[in-house]
Amino acid sequence: MRVAVLGLGYVGTITAAGLASQGHEVVGVDVDETKVDGISKGVSPVIEPGIEALVTRTVASGALTATSDVAAALDRADVSIVCVGTPSTPRGGSDMAFLARALGDIRAAMERVRPPASGHHTVVIRSTVPPGTGANLVAPVFHAGELPQGWAVGTAMCPEFLREGSAVADFFDPPFVVVGTADDRADASLTELFAFLGQDIEVVDVPTAEALKYACNAFHAVKVTFANEVGRLFSQFDVDSRRVMELFCEDDKLNISAAYLRPGFAFGGSCLPKDLRAMQDLARMTAVDIPLLTATTVSNELVVRGVVDRVLATGCTRVCLLGLSFKTQTDDVRESPSLELAERFVGKGLEVRIFDPIVNPDRLVGANLRHLQSKLSHVNRLLAPTPAQALAGAEVAIVTSTDPAVLRSLLDTPPPVVFDMSGRLGEAVEALPGYRGVSW
Ligand SMILES: NC(=O)c1ccc[n+]([C@@H]2O[C@H](COP(=O)([O-])OP(=O)(O)OC[C@H]3O[C@@H](n4cnc5c(N)ncnc54)[C@H](O)[C@@H]3O)[C@@H](O)[C@H]2O)c1
Repeated sequence: MRVAVLGLGYVGTITAAGLASQGHEVVGVDVDETKVDGISKGVSPVIEPGIEALVTRTVASGALTATSDVAAALDRADVSIVCVGTPSTPRGGSDMAFLARALGDIRAAMERVRPPASGHHTVVIRSTVPPGTGANLVAPVFHAGELPQGWAVGTAMCPEFLREGSAVADFFDPPFVVVGTADDRADASLTELFAFLGQDIEVVDVPTAEALKYACNAFHAVKVTFANEVGRLFSQFDVDSRRVMELFCEDDKLNISAAYLRPGFAFGGSCLPKDLRAMQDLARMTAVDIPLLTATTVSNELVVRGVVDRVLATGCTRVCLLGLSFKTQTDDVRESPSLELAERFVGKGLEVRIFDPIVNPDRLVGANLRHLQSKLSHVNRLLAPTPAQALAGAEVAIVTSTDPAVLRSLLDTPPPVVFDMSGRLGEAVEALPGYRGVSW
C-alpha cells in the first residue's frame, strides 16, 4: 500500500520505517526539516534499539522516503497515518493544534494531488487523542459531500502501544491491534496494512479506541504508584517491599488478572474497606503520605453517591434492591454498598423493599447481624421473601444479584427503571425498556 506518515517523532519514525520494512511504500512527512533531511539520508531522528538499521535499510531500498510537502506524500496514497504530538495545554488538556494542522494539510493536499487507484483513502489517527476527537475534529474535515473529485475518505483511530526504549520490538509485537472506525473500507485498509503482524484486529467504535490508550497509560501510572506507595509505607516497618510485590505478582488469579477491572458498583465487604483503613492508619502513624490508596475510599464513596443521585433523579418514591450482600454467593452484608444504598434511600424517605437470595436475617449472627441492624434497624420489614414481592409496585430496581429467580421476576414484571450494577444481567434484561447500564 502507499502510505503517508505525518509526524516523524518516536511514533511516526517507527511506524514509517516498520511499515516500509513490510513491503509498503511509505513517505514520511514532518514540518521539521532536520528530521526530513535526516531520514532522507537514512538517519533516524530518534534513538531506539533497532531503529537506525531499519531506517537505513528501508531508505536504501527506496521503500521509505521523507518530505516536508504533504502533497508529495499524499499523491495516490491509500492511507495517511497521523502521528503528530498532542502535548499538554497549560490546563492539562491535550493540545490538538498539531493534529488540526496536519488534518488541514491533508485536506488541502487532496485538492492538488491524484486520489489512490481505489479512489478510497483512509485517514488514521495514531496520536493519542481524547474521546470525541474523531467525531468533532477528524470526520468533519473529510465531509463526504465536500471532497475533491475522485476522493472518498474513511477515518479511523488506531492507537499506538509502543514503549520508548523497546519501540521497534513493540511495533512488531503489539499487545493488541485496535481500530476504531465505523467505515468498512477503513477497516479493510487497516487489516491489509497490518496483515504482517498476523494478529486479529479488534474493531470497535471510535471513542472506545480513543479512550483505550488513556485507560492503558493511566493504569500503568497507577501500577507504578501503587507499588511505590506499598514500598514507601512498608519500608517504615522494615518490610522488604520488593519481595512483597514479587509474591504479589505471582497471584495471577486476583492480582495480575482481569479480576476487579470491570466498571461497575463500589467495593465493600468485611476485608477491603477495613484493610485499606488499616493501611491509611499505618501511613498516618508513620507520617507517610499514600494519596493513591487514601483516595480509593473517596472514589468508592463517589460510586455509591452516583447511584443514589441517579435513582433520586428519576423522582421515584419506591425502590427495590435485588441483592443486599456485598457480592453474590455470600450472606456477608458487612460494609455492603447495597446496604449503604438501602440506608440512604430510607433516610431520603423512599419506600424500600429488598430481596436477597441468600441473606436471611433470621440466620445472621455476630458482627454481620450487628452491622445489618445498625444500618437498617427494622430490616425485617424491608426484606421480601421473593423477588416478585420486592418488585411489586417498585418504580426503580437496583440489581446486583444475578440469581435466576431475580432475573425471571424482572422479566415477568419489569419496573419502569432497572439499574444494572453488575453488567451481568444478560441480554433479555438489557432489552427491557427501562434498563440502565452502568454508564460511568
Ligand atoms: N512516544 C511514545 O512512546 C508514544 C507511544 C504511543 C503513543 N504516543 C502518542 O503519539 C503521538 C506522537 O508522539 P511522539 O512521541 O512520536 O511525538 P514527537 O513529539 O516525538 O513527534 C511528533 C512529530 O510531529 C511533527 N509535527 C508536528 N506538526 C506536524 C504537522 N502538521 N505535520 C507533520 N509533522 C508534524 C513534529 O515536528 C514532531 O517531529 C502523541 O499523541 C503521543 O501521545 C506516543
